[in-house]
Amino acid sequence: MKNKATGKSYAKIIWFGEHNVVYGKPAIAIPIYSVDVTATIEKIQNGQEIHCRYFDGPINEMADNLLGVKTLTNHLISLFGAQNIAFDLNIQSKLPAERGMGSSAATAIAIVRAFFDFFEVNLTRSQLLKLANIEEKITHGNPSGLDSATASSNMPIWFVKNEINEQIDFNLPTSSLVIADSGIEGKTSEAVSLVHDNVVDEPETAQPLINELGKIAESAREALATTDDELLGKLMNQSQHDLAELGVSNHTLDTFCQIACDNHALGAKLTGSGLGGCVIALAKNQTDAQQISTALRKAGATQTWIQSFKNYQFSTGEA
Ligand code: MEV
Repeated sequence: MKNKATGKSYAKIIWFGEHNVVYGKPAIAIPIYSVDVTATIEKIQNGQEIHCRYFDGPINEMADNLLGVKTLTNHLISLFGAQNIAFDLNIQSKLPAERGMGSSAATAIAIVRAFFDFFEVNLTRSQLLKLANIEEKITHGNPSGLDSATASSNMPIWFVKNEINEQIDFNLPTSSLVIADSGIEGKTSEAVSLVHDNVVDEPETAQPLINELGKIAESAREALATTDDELLGKLMNQSQHDLAELGVSNHTLDTFCQIACDNHALGAKLTGSGLGGCVIALAKNQTDAQQISTALRKAGATQTWIQSFKNYQFSTGEA
């Protein structure tokens, strides 16, 4: 056992495929390196209790909305027989919660990695995702697993629930995604159950939308392979239209997408569960990205980030 260990993870952005991924259709998602979570575990020499500084008190007194994280942490404590070891678990997160950026999954991934590092035990990727799912199931109800898969990856991924989780490489050296936070909370569990209700109550309208969103993700993968950024932009606009039809957009997100397109974005859409959270816009170059970011901030975005595609690295294979 070490005296101190850390685990890291990233924010995720779903480029194509939110919601349809719950129904077995494909998605493309990317980790955002600049928006990360670090979990640190440090032994307390004279302490008797497990502290959890980020959550402001002992782990068993965590707030109810952190039940998932609390359950996962307690699970890891029993897994490693660590009930009598005094340590401090400190989580530093740059992710805003409930904004479609995968805050809960990223926290879970960072915690699992920190525990395995602290106890010096090898962690496989499937073990990591299974453990993170303990938290995600409690927080989101019926997660596809896409958030954890992306938060733990260092490359964009192509994902089909329970089937495919593979890294994809593409070459878009000058383009970037502008991410803008509306400042409005969007609860994943609410959005997922709203779409579920639509699929059950109005299958003749909702199911074709789910199918089409899956087809859009497939076309986007082909557009990435041929470096067709104009087509990617169009596919983003089509996704936004279909997600709005499914009922998970709102006036602010629609307006942000329109403003992005009025400021040279090739396309724009909500990302994540919707009902609030963030929009993403595809910019052809850095100048356009800056212009889109400035326009969205003027329109009320609480934060913006610009993610270029230059820096993605293939994984070294570690979990
Ligand atoms: C949430 O980030 C993405 C959704 O597709 C739900 C899921 O994949 O579990 C809305």
